[in-house]
Amino acid sequence: MSEKYAIILAAGQGTRMKSKVNKVLQPVCGKAMLAHVVDRIRQAGFAEPIAVIRDKPDQLREYVKDPIHFVTQKEQKGTAHAVMMAEPLLAGKPGVTFVVCGDTPCITVETYKRILQMHEEHQAVATILTSYVKDPTGYGRIIRNEDGYVARIVEHKDATEEERTINEINTATYCFNNEKLFEALKQVDNKNAQGEYYLTDVIEIFQRAGDLIVACPAENEDEIIGVNDRVALAKAQEIMQRQINHSHMMNGVSMINPATTYIGPDVKIGRDTVLYPNTYLDGETVVGEDCVIGPDTQLRDTRVADGVIVERSVVLESEIMEDAKVGPFSYIRPGSQVGPRAKIGDFVELKKTIVGEGTKVPHLSYVGDTTIGQFSNIGCGVISVNYDGVNKHRTVIGDHAFIGCNSNLVAPVQVGDHAYVAAGSTVTEDVPTEALAIARARQVNKEGYVPKLMSKHGKEQNK
Ligand code: UD1
Ligand code: CA
Repeated sequence: MSEKYAIILAAGQGTRMKSKVNKVLQPVCGKAMLAHVVDRIRQAGFAEPIAVIRDKPDQLREYVKDPIHFVTQKEQKGTAHAVMMAEPLLAGKPGVTFVVCGDTPCITVETYKRILQMHEEHQAVATILTSYVKDPTGYGRIIRNEDGYVARIVEHKDATEEERTINEINTATYCFNNEKLFEALKQVDNKNAQGEYYLTDVIEIFQRAGDLIVACPAENEDEIIGVNDRVALAKAQEIMQRQINHSHMMNGVSMINPATTYIGPDVKIGRDTVLYPNTYLDGETVVGEDCVIGPDTQLRDTRVADGVIVERSVVLESEIMEDAKVGPFSYIRPGSQVGPRAKIGDFVELKKTIVGEGTKVPHLSYVGDTTIGQFSNIGCGVISVNYDGVNKHRTVIGDHAFIGCNSNLVAPVQVGDHAYVAAGSTVTEDVPTEALAIARARQVNKEGYVPKLMSKHGKEQNK
């Protein structure tokens, strides 16, 4: 197999985006466009793509985690000139080179592989991803010769009336014979309507040399979308969301309404899991098998084991272990872990809190900086008082403990195994194993108090 190189063009202005940030850093499904292109190109077998950018590789590096080379093109003199920026790295090397744009994030791995396959089958010098579109205005048109191969590409601004009626367009995604590409680029000039060095001009140079150029039409018009403005950005978001959801469904995940199910590109989901509407799974979230997630739920950078139910809740940077149940209306903040078969119920907030196996925090609680053992029961309205106004402190609750309703656990404090805390207590001292803590004022009943009060104020008591 020949060496595979890839060049990603990303030095264009992107002025129509009207943004402070580089266009290719705009997110689609939560990830920068450039990172999608790099990721997909790599999955298609291209190890370390070269991105041609305007300046500031440091800013871009933060967004692209995969290995990538950056070369800068200081002046934007056209797409051929941009590819030339990779000449010192690639010229003269045998192999194939993909040239793709940084603003077409929706081209699939399958499409990249299909282009490569076609390129090799035909032993072509260039294979162009084309598309038949309803409105070809603005695009370069594909001029085919009698035998169906490509003769040249003519840019819209340079095309005749007749050429403009052609609706097969150049998507600006190509596979080239690497050595021949850099030889041909030397012959490209800028004598055209835009005064630019057109990459598309290499096609005619190949054709004159008698080399084969193949057109590979895209299977659907959607995936070739180029993102130039915010309207196209939203459209790309919709297309990619469909692509991501489609692949999860093909892998055995059910979605009640895919149109309102938002899954990040790096999320993994096990079989037989069901996603209800308005569910957002993003970051590095991993969901196991046989889970039920949603409706109205967000999981970010969270690991969810098999058989978990999360209903109408938000879970951030946390772990939910097998067969646990979360929600409705729970808020689990970073650094928390919900143990196997544990239950976190309505209007419960956890923060940096470990909840042991089978433990229940069913209603109306704030539990922060706390470790709770196994099979404990945290009553309604319990609060871990973790902040003294200066520092945060931890609360530790043992196994099989029972914390009565509406108690405050003033940290740092520990409640031992099998210990009980009476309802309404404000616990400031450790509770030993198997003890009962009652930390509230003893009740006093003042007999006959109400009638005395009424007569004092000269009022009749309603009987
Ligand atoms: C290009 C193609 C056209 C095709 C269209 C598809 C040429 C001459 N034409 O036209 O046939 O139909 O894409 O969208 O190639 N770029 C640089 N440096 C430059 C110029 C461009 O890096 O000096 C990058 C841009 O960031 C962009 C890509 O190259 O990612 C394409 O450039 P753009 O100006 O959008 O090309 P078009 O004129 O639309
Ligand atoms: Ca242009």
